[in-house]
Amino acid sequence: MTSNEIRQKFLKFFENRGHKVLPSASLIPENDPSVLFNTAGMQPIVPYLLGQTHPMGTRLVDAQKCIRTNDIDEVGDNRHLTFFEMLGNWSLGDYFKEDAIKWSFQFLTDKEEGLGLDINRIYVTVFEGNNDAPRDTDAFTIWKKYLPEGRIYFLPAKNNWWSAGDNGPCGADTEIFYDPSEEPIGDMTHDQFVKADDEGKVIEIWNNVFMEYEKADGKVVGKLAKHNVDTGMGFERITMVVQKMKTVFDTDLFDQTISMIEELSDLKYGDKTDEEYMKNGDQCWVDNRKLMRIIADHIRTSVFIIADGGFPSNTGSGYILRRILRRVIRIARKLSLKDGYLSKIIDIIISKYKDAYPELEKNKKVILDEILKEEIKFHQTLENGLKEFEKGTDPFDLYQSYGFPIELTIELAKEKGRNIDIDDFNNKLKEHQKLSQTSSAGMFKGGLANHSDKTIKLHTAHHLLLAGLQAIVSPDIKQKGSNITEERLRMDFLCDHKLTDEEKQSIEDWVNTRIQESLNVIRREMPLSEAEKLGAQMEFGAKYPELVSVYFVEDKSGNAISKEFCGGPHVTNTSELGHFKILKEEAVAAGIRRIKAVLE
Ligand code: ALA
Repeated sequence: MTSNEIRQKFLKFFENRGHKVLPSASLIPENDPSVLFNTAGMQPIVPYLLGQTHPMGTRLVDAQKCIRTNDIDEVGDNRHLTFFEMLGNWSLGDYFKEDAIKWSFQFLTDKEEGLGLDINRIYVTVFEGNNDAPRDTDAFTIWKKYLPEGRIYFLPAKNNWWSAGDNGPCGADTEIFYDPSEEPIGDMTHDQFVKADDEGKVIEIWNNVFMEYEKADGKVVGKLAKHNVDTGMGFERITMVVQKMKTVFDTDLFDQTISMIEELSDLKYGDKTDEEYMKNGDQCWVDNRKLMRIIADHIRTSVFIIADGGFPSNTGSGYILRRILRRVIRIARKLSLKDGYLSKIIDIIISKYKDAYPELEKNKKVILDEILKEEIKFHQTLENGLKEFEKGTDPFDLYQSYGFPIELTIELAKEKGRNIDIDDFNNKLKEHQKLSQTSSAGMFKGGLANHSDKTIKLHTAHHLLLAGLQAIVSPDIKQKGSNITEERLRMDFLCDHKLTDEEKQSIEDWVNTRIQESLNVIRREMPLSEAEKLGAQMEFGAKYPELVSVYFVEDKSGNAISKEFCGGPHVTNTSELGHFKILKEEAVAAGIRRIKAVLE
């Protein structure tokens, strides 16, 4: 079964059970300052798990693009990736454990509609209970209909409790494992199973979370109004299992890219496992293969980020993109890849994914341009760095001021028989990272500080304020920046004069009238072009993905009194807001004013 067939089968299976298929949200979250990239399939669904009504209904399914860079240094072993897809199905207050478990089992094992995996290789874990929530005997009893009792294990919260962070929805989960060994392992005791998991002999393929609790500041604070189901299955991993491969890089998601890298480097990827090569003392095979995998992974990630509107820069997600691209270029130099390697690999990736993610083909030119531009820039950086190196510049300055990678300094020093004080470099780097962590905390100041009730209310008030400014002061007012905490909202906007007291009063009155009118707040997803046609408000200077979500505040006859590009979350009705009050209006720069306001 090809990877494309697996993705399609998954979506179809749940579509046949009443789920609406959602397109993947952008990799770059539109309004969640707490993360640079979408890191889980459920992330765009959080507001709905917390109770907002989803316009597509209560059963949803998708394949969501995700990026995780916390393990970036592990990429190159046989399982870590920076970009991955997560297959997920959701119940928003609809079905619960009985159907979720039944469908997971059917999808994995059914030969027609599902993946036809071997039932004898499936193991599951369920939550053993703690002070927050009871032992999940329901999940245990349901699983017993499908699997022998001896293959269902109770595990603690560390394994079987899932939350999206310190704040938000959470709940007990049940995890499904698969034994890919040549000969099935068979029955295992609890301890044997835990050991097999630790040793990677069984692999987790699917997580079903029963989202019925809520966390605040890291503590479970109570139950949600509705019970939900949130599932996540790593697409690359399930493809590896279905295609009976030993690593994700052997699946059809990577095989053509790897062959191309072999061709471009005149090196062989090899068909033994890393462990077999190590046993024979063939470390260089493992090393080269690791570099090939990094290239395959990092170019794929870059292609997807740029297709979603990202571009290399020195901050935020742009900085991550720059780092991974520069790593690719460095490694390509090491492996002596032939000229034109970037566009050849990009071509393969785009043709592999273009049906599932049409934005790749559509943005092919931008993707190529941005990546090739970065290559030129980096070569320039290397040239300058080389000159500085010759002058004897300190390695940390080379790294910090000239962007010259330390690995290259080490390589060059070796060639020239020069000594480098690596400890000194590492100490300076640590010091620098401490400083930049503090400043990147500042970077997250734009947008919402968290998803607490108070913050969400102020977020909706923020939309009303912009509409109010446009209604009272000038339809040309544009938002330039925002920052919302639990205490207050702050909006920067383009405006050529200081607001008069009358204007401020009229804006306040306008917003409070909209609150009293109890207007509905509605989210709709639509292509960017359609949202632009509707004249939805965009943040001045911001870049948006192809598919955007737009929040409407509508009056009783369905006219939009506010429409903004926004990822949420918001309240569902303006009546929830309370009384709106402007605290301050001031200048922040020429032609840019700032309002701070609260809800009382
Ligand atoms: N949200 C769950 C996960 O990402 C399904 O594992």
